[in-house]
Amino acid sequence: MVFDTGKTMITFQNVNKTYHNQTGRNSPVLSDINLIVSKGEFLCVLGPSGCGKTTLLNLVAGFIFPSSGRVMLDNTDISEPGPDRGVVFQEATLFPWLTVKKNIEFGLKFTGKNRANRDETVRTHLDQMGLLDHADKYPHTLSGGMRQRVAIARVLALEPKVLLMDEPFSALDANTRERLQDELLRVWSDYRQTVIYVTHSVEEAAYLANRIIILGKASVGIFTDFQVARNRSRSRSTPGFLSLKNRLRNDLARQPCCIQPQIFTNR
Ligand SMILES: Nc1ncnc2c1ncn2[C@@H]1O[C@H](COP(=O)(O)OP(=O)(O)OP(=O)(O)O)[C@@H](O)[C@H]1O
Ligand SMILES: [Mg+2]
Repeated sequence: MVFDTGKTMITFQNVNKTYHNQTGRNSPVLSDINLIVSKGEFLCVLGPSGCGKTTLLNLVAGFIFPSSGRVMLDNTDISEPGPDRGVVFQEATLFPWLTVKKNIEFGLKFTGKNRANRDETVRTHLDQMGLLDHADKYPHTLSGGMRQRVAIARVLALEPKVLLMDEPFSALDANTRERLQDELLRVWSDYRQTVIYVTHSVEEAAYLANRIIILGKASVGIFTDFQVARNRSRSRSTPGFLSLKNRLRNDLARQPCCIQPQIFTNR
């Protein structure tokens, strides 16, 4: 039963997703998922590899569709991707032939903004992500952390209502990751987009989220769902933070791996 609070941004209603693979077998990945994500919520999704986290995100992005059930944005069924949902992947997917500035400007050309408005928006987001000095560089000359910043700036420039992030910082070193987490939180506290953030890191989820769900394999579904106090201190060393991490770790440890073991024979 889905309960609508009136501040709903995303709704999963009895969602099932089954993939049909090349061997003709059907693999159920999501089974009877019911989930309401409120406006302005920062939801982190944890779960073992292969349990369907990216699938969940792709359904909201409109890249794929449920086998049955409904996925809705603002109470309307999602039927295609749209600029109201910005997606950031694990690896920054920038246009290599465009400079940083032009990469960020690219999507704005389709929004009807005039040149002056576009320039202003690009400048604001370059500044926000600490990229002003790199505006005229090409992606291949940037570090991984800088490329990911450009990818985020490009998405934010379109002012999406929803940010969908799939392990966006997992390929970065620990220091860069923590810096970008703080930058993301700063942007979120200014604009309060609704965020769905997939991660494998309990530390990252405990630091960023104001709500955390843990997804298990299809037969289990969402088995942990809890709010993190909004007024907590954002510190990685408080007892509260450590006990939250431990709880997440324990919950995750109860879940088996979702990937079917491959059995190889030498016949
Ligand atoms: N297009 C597809 N066709 C067939 N099977 C797919 C497809 N996409 C995903 N799957 C399968 O669905 C399952 C869930 O995949 P998904 O990528 O959603 O998992 P995940 O939780 O994001 O995993 P990870 O943590 O490793 O990124 C996996 O077994 C995967 O092989
Ligand atoms: Mg994934």
